Amino acid sequence: MIKVGIIGVGTVGTSVANILKENADVISARAGRDIVVKSGVVRNLSKDRGLDIILTDNVDDVLNDDEIDIVVELMGGVDEPFVVVKRALESGKAVVTANKALLAYHRYELQELAGNIPFEFEASVAGGIPIITALRDGLSANHIESIMGIMNGTCNYMMTEMTNNGVSYDAILKEAQDLGYAEADPTFDVGGYDAAHKLLILASIAYGLDAKPEDILIEGIENVSSEDIAFAKEFGYAIKLLAIAKKDNNEVELRVHAALIKKEAMIAKIDGVMNGVSVVGDKVGETLYYGAGAGGDATASAVVANIIDIARSGKSTPMLGFNRPMEGNTLTLKSSDDIESKYYLRINVTDKAGVLAQLSKIFESYNISIETMLQRSSENGSANLLISTHKAVEKDIQSMLKELEKLDFINFRPVMIRIV
Ligand code: NAP
Ligand code: HSE
Repeated sequence: MIKVGIIGVGTVGTSVANILKENADVISARAGRDIVVKSGVVRNLSKDRGLDIILTDNVDDVLNDDEIDIVVELMGGVDEPFVVVKRALESGKAVVTANKALLAYHRYELQELAGNIPFEFEASVAGGIPIITALRDGLSANHIESIMGIMNGTCNYMMTEMTNNGVSYDAILKEAQDLGYAEADPTFDVGGYDAAHKLLILASIAYGLDAKPEDILIEGIENVSSEDIAFAKEFGYAIKLLAIAKKDNNEVELRVHAALIKKEAMIAKIDGVMNGVSVVGDKVGETLYYGAGAGGDATASAVVANIIDIARSGKSTPMLGFNRPMEGNTLTLKSSDDIESKYYLRINVTDKAGVLAQLSKIFESYNISIETMLQRSSENGSANLLISTHKAVEKDIQSMLKELEKLDFINFRPVMIRIV
């Protein structure tokens, strides 16, 4: 029998305990032995969680319990879980976590500490989709050319409801929190950080790249307005929060931002809490993964799969998939300044003579070529200029936006959304 201790019995932890009980027949058969939860750790012992497991508010009750074989960390955060997980590994216990924030900062230290002790984290990226296993095992024969996808269920749920049903940002964020999709601090979701944490984990498995959130371009959905959603819809685009990793010669670009995507594209059709990830390998070509990206049961499905795997074999694949560095591996992180993209710009101007002429000079001076432009005038004497550009370089667009902000005929900060 395998005994599990769950540190953090909230949305995901409760589902893990329930699945281990409700699906015990198939789980025991697949694992070759019974798996039971011996105890769980919470902060608030007075809260009823509808579970028949022993609960404590002291992590030592799990970490010092010699009968517990696997510690499942589902408390969230970075510093506290790092200490907890380190202690679990030091006492020889296998670890399963869904905590992408922890891994975004400490994955290489944890890999070192784990050594041959199993350390699994399937649920940390894209909830219930087995993307870690796919990338680390199923695609291990390939050089990975790109990874692109929707990796935050909360943002996708919000963008879908705002686009299809005109629901307000605040109301739909509250709903995503009530449904258990959002992080304890939802700024991580809407600010793009959660998707970035996931992208960094995938980048380590795909490219052996050790980057931190501070090193990459991260933007969220906070500045996507209902006006831009409506314009996007009118012109046949969906707006999604995308996470992108792309190899370009010896560099890898990593970025998270809202993006306009043609509505016919497969990824534009991924709605609600669903996530979708495309991985392109040099031998396999494109592969696609789709499924629930957040929520208790979907996430716990991936956590329990890791527990079963550990119970089955007791041995581990190297945590991040590489047994040693690749010979001649010179892959480095591309500077965000050098990223190239097409851009959508919405510039609200005073509708008067000479404005377009001045703007076109500024565009030219930053080497930014306009692909399409449309003017929507209002009765109050202002106009929205809706511009799409040909491919341009990020640092040029950013510098131009700074200059545009200073012009007296521009009424407020221009809106920029990348087109993918
Ligand atoms: P949650 O509902 O907030 O649950 C967190 C649990 O940890 C709660 O039971 C809390 O106790 C407990 N806890 C927190 N700090 C503690 C401490 N210092 N000592 C003891 N217990 C502590 O969070 P969740 O949504 O289940 O997420 C858990 C982890 O899974 C996070 O790392 C999250 O990023 C990740 N994840 C979540 C989802 C999802 O859809 N929710 C999907 C993928 C990954 P109380 O209940 O008493 O407050
Ligand atoms: N808050 C995360 C999301 C949970 O919405 O995608 C799943 O990682």
